[in-house]
Amino acid sequence: MGIEIKPLSAALGAEVIGLDLSRPLDDKTFETLRAAWLEALVLVFRDLHGMSVEQHLAISRRFGRLNTDLKAEKTLDGHPEILVLSTLKKNGEFVGNPGGGQFWHVDLYFERIPAMAGFLHAIEVPSAPGVGDTLFANMYAAYEALAKDTKRRVDGRTNRVSRVKSWPINYPDKPPLTDAQKAAYADVFHPLVRTHPETGRKALFIGDVTAGTVEGLPEDEGDALLRELREFAIQPRFVYTHRWRPGDALLWDNRCTYHAATPFDQNRYRRHMHRTTIMDDRVPV
Ligand code: OGA
Ligand code: MN
Repeated sequence: MGIEIKPLSAALGAEVIGLDLSRPLDDKTFETLRAAWLEALVLVFRDLHGMSVEQHLAISRRFGRLNTDLKAEKTLDGHPEILVLSTLKKNGEFVGNPGGGQFWHVDLYFERIPAMAGFLHAIEVPSAPGVGDTLFANMYAAYEALAKDTKRRVDGRTNRVSRVKSWPINYPDKPPLTDAQKAAYADVFHPLVRTHPETGRKALFIGDVTAGTVEGLPEDEGDALLRELREFAIQPRFVYTHRWRPGDALLWDNRCTYHAATPFDQNRYRRHMHRTTIMDDRVPV
């Protein structure tokens, strides 16, 4: 049976109906999925309650090489490709990262080559409305809608990205980075506007703005520009809000979207997910 693709919102997103997990994806179905993904930016699969880790890995691998080096993150025993996001506890400790990324970000933006995609499978999620939703912004649309003079201010600009700068802002509860960790996190440089290598479209690429310093501008002016771009990009007209149901799986294009988990009480709600991270082999330009 073929799959059906149903658009989800004006901003981005499409639901894939009829994916059969019981056998490997044939090439034609994969090409349909891939084209739909490039067009919709985020694909939503529903009711994949029974998707096994092996099936999750197999589909993810059709899209590219998986990250097996999720430094300092909690991964599944025996499966370094599976990042665990979880508020569940074992021996009094969270079995995964409990919070998701509760600030607007691009996965692995602090690497020279950030992730190409994330594929997140929800095994258990809160049923309370609006708790632990995930927001995705369309960064093509945000770029295209910028005022002419703002476009002029960002086109051709480079962002110096420092994980050391953002760490205490994003993780006030985590221990500060040691000197050895700081030395391991070298700054990287990304264009503020990137051209998607497959669609050829331009997208804002600002990542977690607390990590950035805009090259060629006084620091406070650059910081203000990054914050202005973030506030612009996360306007409701560019954003799709995913309200999770158990069994959902989301595949996002990390090269042209921006995402954030909404804050929730990690000690109150049960939320348990597995993510694969699909790597890219081209530096953003
Ligand atoms: C991620 C992420 C958000 C969430 O998995 O990369 O940012 O809502 N997750 O858990
Ligand atoms: Mn993320």
